Amino acid sequence: MKIRGTKLTVVGAGAVGTSLAYAALIKGAATHVALHDISAVKVKAEALDLAHGSQFLPPHVTVEGSDDVAVTANSDVVVVAAGAKQQPGETRMDLAAKTVGMMKSLIPPLVEQSPGAVFIMVTNPVDVTTQAALKISGLPRNQVMGSGTVLDSSRLRWLIAAECAVSVTNVHAYIAGEHGDTETPLWSTATIGGVPLKQWEEQTGQLSREVRERIAEQVVGAAYEVIEGKGATNYAIGLAGTRIIQAVLRDEHRVMPVSSYLDDWKGISDVCMSVPHVVDGKGVGRALELPLTDGELQRLRDSADHIREAARRLGF
Ligand code: 2OP
Repeated sequence: MKIRGTKLTVVGAGAVGTSLAYAALIKGAATHVALHDISAVKVKAEALDLAHGSQFLPPHVTVEGSDDVAVTANSDVVVVAAGAKQQPGETRMDLAAKTVGMMKSLIPPLVEQSPGAVFIMVTNPVDVTTQAALKISGLPRNQVMGSGTVLDSSRLRWLIAAECAVSVTNVHAYIAGEHGDTETPLWSTATIGGVPLKQWEEQTGQLSREVRERIAEQVVGAAYEVIEGKGATNYAIGLAGTRIIQAVLRDEHRVMPVSSYLDDWKGISDVCMSVPHVVDGKGVGRALELPLTDGELQRLRDSADHIREAARRLGF
């Protein structure tokens, strides 16, 4: 496929934004990466450090950084990773008021610079951030999504793969709902090499109910564990975010559990939340009508209520 010039903006030159820019650069996800942050000194230094490796990047890949929003002009994709840092012991939801306040001033100039861009929100609590960004931007639904549970699903697949000694690429399983404490694994639709999990358990004795519960807990606790140890999570979200960017810029029509505005998805409405969606060049497309158990659907409804309430409290 012929790759045309593509521009990616990453807003926020902290641990997440720079890891995302780094991953996008070395994967050649876009031909030009613009890094934007309110700190001129920090963003210039980060962009320089990245640019110094240009010789070792895929050909024609360039990077620049500026505190001037004009650096973001005419982007194809804008990733927003600017925000308050989650402290050890804090939940993602604890950051909601601060983050939403920031989005009110951040989003309009970005939209003005790149009205046709697909916006991918990464800042936590990502579902509330996505809902706020969708409303603030006035953009159509397809142009605004959140990284959602793409990372959590990767954590889930990694743990299942390790438990069953199969390649992570052969595991298909989703975490859906809030990217946070109320998220839930969709075990009933999970497969390993095409074998439904239930059959896998019958055949191998692996992934018993207890093991599945332990894995689900590990996924929910994963970010807390990393934040406790190193103060932030950055590499895996950098890779997950880059995978979403690639799905958009290559028009992949890839199924990914990104966070997007749901309108009567299995009766769930008026909330941004992750369920598997088709992601393509226009951004986020339709949400898949997965066959779910009653328990799974109920947990997703509860998760949706939790996000919606948090968004409402902040006026969205
Ligand atoms: C993560 O899940 C903290 O949301 C961030 O790694």
